Amino acid sequence: MIEALQKVRAETLARVQAAQSLEELERARVACLGRSGALKALLQGLAQLPAEERPAVGRLANELKAAVQDAIAARQQELARRATQAAEALLDITLPGQRQPVGHEHPLRLVEAELREIFARLGFEAVEGPEVELEYYNFDALNIPAEHPSHDSFDTFYIQGDVLLRSHTSPVQVRVMEQRRPPVRVVVPGRVYRPDTADATHSPVFHQIEGLAVGEGVTFADLKAVLTMAMRELFGPRTETRFRPSFFPFTEPSAEVDVCCELGGERRWLELLGAGMVHPKVLEAVGYDAERYTGFAFGMGIDRVALLKYGIPDIRLLLENDVRFLEQF
Ligand code: PHE
Repeated sequence: MIEALQKVRAETLARVQAAQSLEELERARVACLGRSGALKALLQGLAQLPAEERPAVGRLANELKAAVQDAIAARQQELARRATQAAEALLDITLPGQRQPVGHEHPLRLVEAELREIFARLGFEAVEGPEVELEYYNFDALNIPAEHPSHDSFDTFYIQGDVLLRSHTSPVQVRVMEQRRPPVRVVVPGRVYRPDTADATHSPVFHQIEGLAVGEGVTFADLKAVLTMAMRELFGPRTETRFRPSFFPFTEPSAEVDVCCELGGERRWLELLGAGMVHPKVLEAVGYDAERYTGFAFGMGIDRVALLKYGIPDIRLLLENDVRFLEQF
């Protein structure tokens, strides 16, 4: 019996030493220590042994078990060490590294962030509104009559019924006033949509920033002051603004605002904003007392400003996501 045990021990240890994989190692373990392994089979004969021989055999069996388990653990470590070594052999630290491309802020985002900051310093909180809008907010509440050309499906992206992609950020004026009591001072940056054919200066999707200030005693002089200061912050201290009479259904009086600034060493006038005093009908539509409160509003194209500031020749470049273009900002 003792001889048999020693034989099992020697064979198992040899098998463990020779194992080349964790699977082989496991098979060796099961063959010796498993439920129907060699050790179990031998120990079944223990009962037939004379009582005085049993303790010695038992001890030997326990030693065998411990020795096999130790050998398996040692072999496992050895196999793991070899696996790491093999992996390291494949690693060549002299190979050139892989460059991790770093993202850039999009020029539109840069201009938007700058405008948010400028208007924040002038006391305007930035808020946002939905791009999918109801006719009511895009037109009716802004006093834009049903027969107005912008109401037409040729001039607006309708989704279905009275749901459309907003054609300007002005509907957010109404949404904000519905939620708040005066004084109100907000700017609203965001995407707007018009079914224009894309060319160097037009795109069916572009960006605006809306401004709205309503309170007691707000005048056109406040509008001029705010826009003049904001444009000087944006384009430099020598920037002038020019207000030309214009028409919008939701402002009265209305103005087209031009900005004269130096760009690339050249001074020129650029049409940049629509603006005016909030029409009393708009104030009434949100339940404001139009006798007590007055306000001004303006809307400005962000893409236009980005093209000017960075000297970009074509608005489509802003939307193509060409990394070679975007990397420059
Ligand atoms: N919503 C107008 C447009 O998109 C701009 C505007 C905004 C004009 C606010 C006046 C007041 O053309």
